[in-house]
Amino acid sequence: MTIATGGKMLNFGYWDDSVQTPLDAQRLLCTIVGELAELKSARCVIDVGSGLGAPAAYWMSSLNSLQVACVNINFLQLKGSKEDVSASLVNSTSTALPFATGCVDRVIALESAQHFRPLERFVQESARVLEEDGLLVMAIPVLKSFNKKKKLSHYLSLGILSMTWSSEHYALEYVESAIKGAGLSIESLRYIGPRVYEPLADYYLANRTELKPKILEVYPVYLEKVLFRSILKMKLLSQRGFIEYVLIKARKPESITKKEVRSVPTLQTP
Ligand SMILES: C[S@@+](CC[C@H](N)C(=O)[O-])C[C@H]1O[C@@H](n2cnc3c(N)ncnc32)[C@H](O)[C@@H]1O
Repeated sequence: MTIATGGKMLNFGYWDDSVQTPLDAQRLLCTIVGELAELKSARCVIDVGSGLGAPAAYWMSSLNSLQVACVNINFLQLKGSKEDVSASLVNSTSTALPFATGCVDRVIALESAQHFRPLERFVQESARVLEEDGLLVMAIPVLKSFNKKKKLSHYLSLGILSMTWSSEHYALEYVESAIKGAGLSIESLRYIGPRVYEPLADYYLANRTELKPKILEVYPVYLEKVLFRSILKMKLLSQRGFIEYVLIKARKPESITKKEVRSVPTLQTP
């Protein structure tokens, strides 16, 4: 991604008519995720699977008082984040977040939760570190539901996605059940696959002649070929409805006692 974009974001981006370049698309995805996470009213955010810190830097550049902790299992990426972002940098896995219970009001996983294993453990950890009413927001590639017969051929065809989607292949139902199982309530679920896979693939196809030499400066020829086939397959699987990309917003409910206290009418002094 960084070779193709010249930037430091590592996600596929959100492609609408205003988008000209992959970097525009990535910024737009960051903006959409930031809005979904209601960052304007946030105090403290954990960005889990923070990549090179570019999304955090992007959010912090427009929200001065926002505190962000970038969590990444990849130490080298965290090190690479240092010069660009003033966030706290935490080298840790998503399944054991080194934060106190109830200490943050947002957890974001921007195109990273597809790597977390087991996903349930990450969601439970998110629910633990979130304060009541806090939000978990995920942007995640998922498998769409399909019948058993389709499932087999589908799994066989996913092999070719080794380059573009080299992680777990979670089904949407599984992600939803992990979230609900951790006691969070899903407030919104947005399907954005057609705004991600197809336009990204079309961009690569249209610009392959210019992008290929840049890639070959760093990687061998066969790898660009695998990437090319992987991108084509991704487009096809998206068009056939096998893969999706979803934006999920889930909230940690307030405890019953708190709700009850709030609903008690205030006594009027005579
Ligand atoms: C596709 S990149 C997305 C990075 C970033 N969110 C962005 O949009 O630029 C996925 C990131 O998740 C991180 N990651 C993968 N597995 C992880 C884990 N178990 N715990 C924490 N981070 C993880 C990777 O190191 C990588 O930085």
